[in-house]
Amino acid sequence: MDVAVIGAGRAGTAVAVGLARAGHRIVGVAGGAATAARVHRWLPDAPVLDPAAAAAAAALVVIGTPDDAIRPTAERLAAEGAVGPGSWIVHLSGGLGLDALESAVRAGARRLAIHPLQTFPDVDSAIDRLPGAAIAVTADDEEGAELGMRLADDLGGRPFRLDDDRRPIYHAAAVFGSNYLVATSAVAETLMILAGVPDPAEVLAPLRRASIENVERLGAAEALTGPAVRGDAGTVRRNLEALKASAPELIHAYVSMARAALDVADRAGRLASDARRAVEDVLDGWT
Ligand SMILES: NC(=O)c1ccc[n+]([C@@H]2O[C@H](COP(=O)([O-])OP(=O)(O)OC[C@H]3O[C@@H](n4cnc5c(N)ncnc54)[C@H](OP(=O)(O)O)[C@@H]3O)[C@@H](O)[C@H]2O)c1
Repeated sequence: MDVAVIGAGRAGTAVAVGLARAGHRIVGVAGGAATAARVHRWLPDAPVLDPAAAAAAAALVVIGTPDDAIRPTAERLAAEGAVGPGSWIVHLSGGLGLDALESAVRAGARRLAIHPLQTFPDVDSAIDRLPGAAIAVTADDEEGAELGMRLADDLGGRPFRLDDDRRPIYHAAAVFGSNYLVATSAVAETLMILAGVPDPAEVLAPLRRASIENVERLGAAEALTGPAVRGDAGTVRRNLEALKASAPELIHAYVSMARAALDVADRAGRLASDARRAVEDVLDGWT
């Protein structure tokens, strides 16, 4: 297909490179001030155009802007007549639904959303990691879904279909699965520093790696270890007292995660009810 990319940052550039490698033609790329340099490096054959010119030249318009700019970008393209009957418009956000593209649909275009369930801190890693990533596909109808699945296949992804109304909870899952995993790693490093441990990132790495490997090998319920799953109320209390003394801003997060761990252990039948109650008694004193 002839493809335009409006907002070719980390995700948009990787999608453009992937589609070009699969035989699609990138007929226009539009974006902000840094876009031309990225296009020069990763998509040297693609013209840099303004958004309306790029979209008007394409059968498929990929919006890869930050989430907040997706709706206004679609509105602008529709208002300028750059999308309409015969064009498809797609966004890459996991958290937004198809409604972000409604102005393009009112102009006669058809829409879908494809979300690579992967983390892209920079363009190079995005190009490397897109193949093999799970890709959520949401569309209005069967034809749209088939196009989305085909595009995801072309990107080397593992597509699956996702209902539009479930995208927000799906994205919350992705945030826990990636962003908060990173945030908890940073918190662990901070606390190691408070404990006077040298090279916290280095000492934590084998622990973190083994935890992730265990989740993949055994499933989360079996991989879980630690005081909550053991029903070790005294240790939980000592952890919380230490946080109160050194990092009280983390108490709330610790309590929330301890409750989540209790639920996981309980659902897996790994926690006796009296052990759960003992840990909950401690947690209740800190909320
Ligand atoms: N990064 C990830 O891990 C990831 C993973 C899956 C999905 N996504 C989704 O992919 C989309 C893009 O995220 P990203 O991380 O790739 O963002 P990003 O790296 O910040 O790229 C956004 C691009 O949009 C351009 N841009 C910003 N405002 C614009 C506007 N009003 N009109 C046209 N172009 C505009 C910027 O151009 P300049 O650089 O030239 O200013 C930039 O290249 C989002 O919907 C996000 O949810 C991201």
